[in-house]
Amino acid sequence: MDKSTIVCRCEEINVDEIETAMKNGAETFDDIKRLTRCGMGPCQSKTCLNPVREIIAEYTGKPLADIRISRMRMPLKLVRMSALTNGSEGGNVASVFGESVEDGETNDE
Ligand code: FES
Repeated sequence: MDKSTIVCRCEEINVDEIETAMKNGAETFDDIKRLTRCGMGPCQSKTCLNPVREIIAEYTGKPLADIRISRMRMPLKLVRMSALTNGSEGGNVASVFGESVEDGETNDE
């Protein structure tokens, strides 16, 4: 792969930037993410995760199966913005994250 090849389209990160991050101590996708912003774009690494894992495997000489995926953050699936607002149709934040909370009930005491 050419060094100028864009791997993360969202953040416009190329192969050379990923290899530079690894030369500076990055060992995982999350390390590369912190150093370059790779994986932090609108697609949240759905496009660049595997190409970056392949680069890590090639650079380190490890099998691809040993290269971990990035740490996932909530929500794990697409949700409508209306589902994240209180009192709107479709629920509230608690229901999005799998908890059942009655209207007006809070955990504050
Ligand atoms: S392609 Fe990397 S975050 Fe979208």
